[in-house]
Amino acid sequence: MKDKNEFLQVKDLVVEYTSEGKIVHAVNKVSFSLERGRTIGLVGETGAGKTSIAKAILRILPEPGGKIVGGEVFLDGEDILKIKEKGMRKLRGRKISMIFQDPMTALNPVKRVVDQIAEVVRTHNSKMSAVEATAEAIKMLEKVGIAENRVREYPHQFSGGMKQRVVIAMALACNPDLLLADEPTTALDVTIQAQVLEMINELKKDFNTAMIMITHDLGVVAEVCDDVAVVYAGEVIEYGTKEDVFDHPAHPYTKGLFGAIPDLNSHVKRLSPIEGLPPDPSDLPEGCNFSPRCPYATDECRRGEINAVEAAPGHTCRCCNIKAQEVQK
Ligand SMILES: Nc1ncnc2c1ncn2[C@@H]1O[C@H](COP(=O)(O)OP(=O)(O)OP(=O)(O)O)[C@@H](O)[C@H]1O
Ligand code: SF4
Ligand SMILES: [Mg+2]
Repeated sequence: MKDKNEFLQVKDLVVEYTSEGKIVHAVNKVSFSLERGRTIGLVGETGAGKTSIAKAILRILPEPGGKIVGGEVFLDGEDILKIKEKGMRKLRGRKISMIFQDPMTALNPVKRVVDQIAEVVRTHNSKMSAVEATAEAIKMLEKVGIAENRVREYPHQFSGGMKQRVVIAMALACNPDLLLADEPTTALDVTIQAQVLEMINELKKDFNTAMIMITHDLGVVAEVCDDVAVVYAGEVIEYGTKEDVFDHPAHPYTKGLFGAIPDLNSHVKRLSPIEGLPPDPSDLPEGCNFSPRCPYATDECRRGEINAVEAAPGHTCRCCNIKAQEVQK
């Protein structure tokens, strides 16, 4: 992956929560970058830190408790972790939008769907009249497959899939440069999921949006992602293009996850379980976070920080022992 022309650059991001007197190390020096028009998939088990990464970028970590304690996030060359909250509020929605897993987080139950979108449109185009904003909202809803005769209904009159499509329309109504999607299709049935993914792909192409797709679902990665960052215990342990990571996994964790999957076009959708549990983020092991579960662990793995190494140009892997695995294969 190129380092220049990157629209988003996340460098050494560290997020901690304070909970019951303990420090939860949720995100530990995460780095990745993204060009306009490309999608990166953040994949990993539950509790790996995926949502925390997205919320840190948007600066919406829960308060008190959640805190960015290190790192930089450059958006279009500007470190947005240094912007004041007022400036950040302008960025949210205008430049960055987020689609949450639960559509009702974003929808107002007592407002007609079209009015909610029109409001977003108007917030970002203050010169637009109410009538123009409504026309724009109807266009946006039609794009996500909601017919004009339904747009004046309330969210509760819509199915789960339709609600999620409204949320996607809302996230895209302000034409964001960066879209963060946190498991946007997990709650949907398979047919609707396929439609929504197709739509996301089309819209992304139309608007040249950069996108972070958080998912457990390898089918979603295959469908929409260009690059993949595998997240384990708050670290990106493998990072590369989708083809690098799927077809040539280098980290023992990724190999385990993808073990059951012969290739990118196979229909195995879920991450395969690996024996053991991820470490407690308030009590991480010394050295490699994966060492308690890793079949290749040596004493070297249990000492100091494990740096990312290149498995191939642009394809990195946080493992000090790639060669040993090759031998043991
Ligand atoms: N508000 C909070 N207070 C304390 N700990 C938290 C809080 N939110 C998240 N965590 C912890 O931070 C770690 C990362 O959580 P996060 O929600 O980012 O993971 P995730 O990868 O999105 O998981 P999932 O796939 O289940 O959504 C977990 O150990 C989680 O328990
Ligand atoms: S550093 Fe060691 S323990 Fe960690 S993944 Fe590599 S071989 Fe396994
Ligand atoms: Mg999450």
